[in-house]
Amino acid sequence: MATFICSNLPLGIDLQSWCNGRCDYFKCKFRIAAWSWFIGPMVDRRSLGDNRLRVSVIGCGHVGLVTGACLAAAGHQVVCTDTDAARIAMLTAGGVPIYEPHLGSVLRSARKARRISFTTNPAEAIRAGQAIFVCVETPARENGEADFSAIDHLALQIAQEARSPKLVIEKSTVPTRAGAEFRRSLFAYANSRANYFRVASNPEFMREGAAVSDFFHPDRIVAGVEEQSAATDLRAIYSSILERRFTCPIHAGNCPSTREVEFVVTDIKEADLIKHASDSFLALKISYANVLADICEKIGADVERVTRAMGLDPRIGAQFLKAGLGFGGFCFPNDVQAFIELSASVGIDFAILKAAESVNKERISLCLDKLRKALWVLKDKRVSVLGLAFKADTDDVRFSPALEVIRHLLEEGAEVRASDPEGMARTKAKFPQVSYHTDPYEAMRGADAAIICTDWDLFKTLDWRRAGKLMARKLVIDGRNLNSHQAMRDLDFEYYSFGRGTTASRSQLENPVETPALIEDPCDAVVTAKAI
Ligand code: UGA
Repeated sequence: MATFICSNLPLGIDLQSWCNGRCDYFKCKFRIAAWSWFIGPMVDRRSLGDNRLRVSVIGCGHVGLVTGACLAAAGHQVVCTDTDAARIAMLTAGGVPIYEPHLGSVLRSARKARRISFTTNPAEAIRAGQAIFVCVETPARENGEADFSAIDHLALQIAQEARSPKLVIEKSTVPTRAGAEFRRSLFAYANSRANYFRVASNPEFMREGAAVSDFFHPDRIVAGVEEQSAATDLRAIYSSILERRFTCPIHAGNCPSTREVEFVVTDIKEADLIKHASDSFLALKISYANVLADICEKIGADVERVTRAMGLDPRIGAQFLKAGLGFGGFCFPNDVQAFIELSASVGIDFAILKAAESVNKERISLCLDKLRKALWVLKDKRVSVLGLAFKADTDDVRFSPALEVIRHLLEEGAEVRASDPEGMARTKAKFPQVSYHTDPYEAMRGADAAIICTDWDLFKTLDWRRAGKLMARKLVIDGRNLNSHQAMRDLDFEYYSFGRGTTASRSQLENPVETPALIEDPCDAVVTAKAI
């Protein structure tokens, strides 16, 4: 067994089996000689110092771009590619196509240090990297199954274009077993050159809006591999993060002290499973909190006090227990659905996950019910939607609960005015009939109601006294529980949140409208109906 050393990446290739695939012994010998005497040292010279590698990233979406930029910041030489020519042009010109805190500055310093470049030519990127990160999207089809066509096509491209051994790292979120399938496809397409490739699964756990911070301060790095050398190489790629030898672009030397990052080595299918199980568990936790909120509403308890006390138990933990409009985004809804599909395919009915999914969908109807109860008829009412992104600190509106709320409002004939710090451009493309306002107060001008859909800081600090003067009716449905009932009552707002009771406005309380009951007892109604 011999091992090529490309830079400091021990690309563990079994020379004998590599040669077996070659048709003639001399060709093989020549290639080995060329590699060890000429190309290898050249790669060494061209590449960087300790553990610095040439890395390619395929797919410049959220995961790919953050991964590429942060790996460059960690010292690697990175080439990113995407089929979206406009996106690559923007990146090449120094722009940032997505909103992600700190990404702009990380990209800027990587460009300045000449450690990152962009290309629309996948072959160029595939040839450049010793390690290739696959970060393409796996959208769900109509029936909920994931669409692997982009990943399969990539396996073919990598097999055709690679001219030297590669570690191919699957980072797209793929259903369990897809990582193994990708490996099988790559090897099949590579045919006699299969030994050029090793495949690893390296699921990402970054959150949008906190992705750069999560990249540099992960809880764990999972390496799903089929051979030990792939784990060694992945560890080398992340060594500066594991050993905390990087200049943090966020905390300027003052990083919060966290526990040591664990490097978890598993096989590929377990790595994919870890990703699905983690996302689905968090989604489950949110839906649990939301059902709890429903119960609290019925019995007059405050869900925030309940979940806060629950979260003090370290076995439960305080995070992902916030009730409200529920989860959205590209990850949770897709992952939950794909995990349900996967379990069904092996004969397991993942009933609790299905329940979590339907609890999440119900949030939208509950929110609209609150609005209907207050306004009675929605047709021709002006409703202000505050927040479009699926959560704060992102411009991502995919599967955003806010968009579902808007869809229903428009269907019922309401006029919608919307505001969001980053999500307006993307929403405009879907709902051109909505009017968009950078200033949230403008969005609330003349409104019969405001619905808070996203937990942006901006909406946490709104001046409701000012908003109240602009609105036609002081009515707020708070889908993210950002305000206090007391404060809203003091400002004479009619205020509804999730799992924390209802606040009638002060004037409603002072001047209750006595509506005489038409039917005191439902049994009477039945009798009356029968009598008629
Ligand atoms: C999620 C996971 O948190 C990441 O670990 C994972 O890497 C990522 O998916 C992914 O699979 O790529 P993300 O979708 O960016 O990250 O956002 P989260 O912060 O997890 O929030 C997801 C949704 O849940 C948002 O709509 C948020 O508003 C909602 N949420 C979150 C709640 O309704 N309540 C909570 O208590 C927490």
